[in-house]
Amino acid sequence: MYNSRIIGLGKYVPDNIITNDDLSKMMDTNDAWIQERTGIQERRWIKEGSGDTSAVMGAKAARIAIERAGLTKDDIDFIVFATLSPDYYFPGCGVQIQDILDMPTVGALDIRNQCSGFIYAVSVADQFIKTGMYNNILVIGAEYHSGGLDKSTRGRSVSVIFGDGAGAAVMTRTEDNTIGVLSSHLHSEGKHAEELVVEGPSIRHWVPEILEANNEEDTSYYPYMNGQFVFKHAVVRFSEAIVEGLTANNLQKEDIDMLIPHQANLRISQFIQKKFGLRDDQVFNNIQKYGNTTAASVIIALTEAWEEGKINDGDTVVLAAFGSGFTWGSVIMKW
Ligand code: ACO
Repeated sequence: MYNSRIIGLGKYVPDNIITNDDLSKMMDTNDAWIQERTGIQERRWIKEGSGDTSAVMGAKAARIAIERAGLTKDDIDFIVFATLSPDYYFPGCGVQIQDILDMPTVGALDIRNQCSGFIYAVSVADQFIKTGMYNNILVIGAEYHSGGLDKSTRGRSVSVIFGDGAGAAVMTRTEDNTIGVLSSHLHSEGKHAEELVVEGPSIRHWVPEILEANNEEDTSYYPYMNGQFVFKHAVVRFSEAIVEGLTANNLQKEDIDMLIPHQANLRISQFIQKKFGLRDDQVFNNIQKYGNTTAASVIIALTEAWEEGKINDGDTVVLAAFGSGFTWGSVIMKW
């Protein structure tokens, strides 16, 4: 039986910084409200004409991760790409990575699990490596939110939260079962699908229907979020996923060297930190700079924590996320 471990990390965020004050020029909002409710100070939004998309940003992050892994694109056996904002309705972004990076014709799988996307992606890659099917898997999380947000006052409770960006990890096989991914835990509760949703375009609500209606009141193609309902479920499910991961590995909360929570809202991360009694150096947050980048948030945060020297060999690293679906989960790793 093999184990999987991360040997290369990379991230890419667009240069274009949008501050809370910038947003207040587009809609009726203000820095104080956004910071008090979410902790977000600024986010990156792709500049029109820059050429960045979820796939393009994912490829930029992937190049860095592959190089840091000491590999080349030809060493990668499989691609797993997590996003809710793919370049096309279909095909997914994974195949674009194969093309952009000029990789061999390896398989590519897209994961559609929103904020939990990277957790699911790591778990899938882990299973492929553990069974011996693949040696090196490129796992990417990327989101191009800014192109699909309602930037008027009507959409303010959602649009101030989200940012664009990408992160990537190279996972590889190890025969040392004491390091790498120790376990992953995945959950869903589909009855709450419509509490955090983009309804259209979809097969049920197709573009011609939207266009024919020509109804500016139709907001079905913008994200809808029942914020307080999502918040209440998030704090419960985050906690459950972390406890489940610790219990499965006979670990205590004191054993956590680094918790990387999905960057949904700083208040959620702070609630979890307090609930588990974790010190500041045991939890990493960067939502202040990037907003909520959904499937990219955990991998961008993991990469940044590693770049800042906050993750070292032997550390117990916990990844946890909750999001639309609802979906949630955790990954426990020994670095
Ligand atoms: N600026 C100023 N005022 C605003 C803004 C804004 N951007 N947005 C909303 N308001 C107003 C509302 O209109 C409302 O005014 P009213 O009281 O006069 O009606 C008031 O502020 C409070 O609005 P709420 O929506 O109740 O604000 P809340 O405290 O719930 O905060 C938030 C909203 C930040 C969205 C919070 O609910 C949250 O973070 N929820 C969880 C988000 C999350 O975890 N998502 C999961 C991941 S995302 C994914 O999976 C894709």
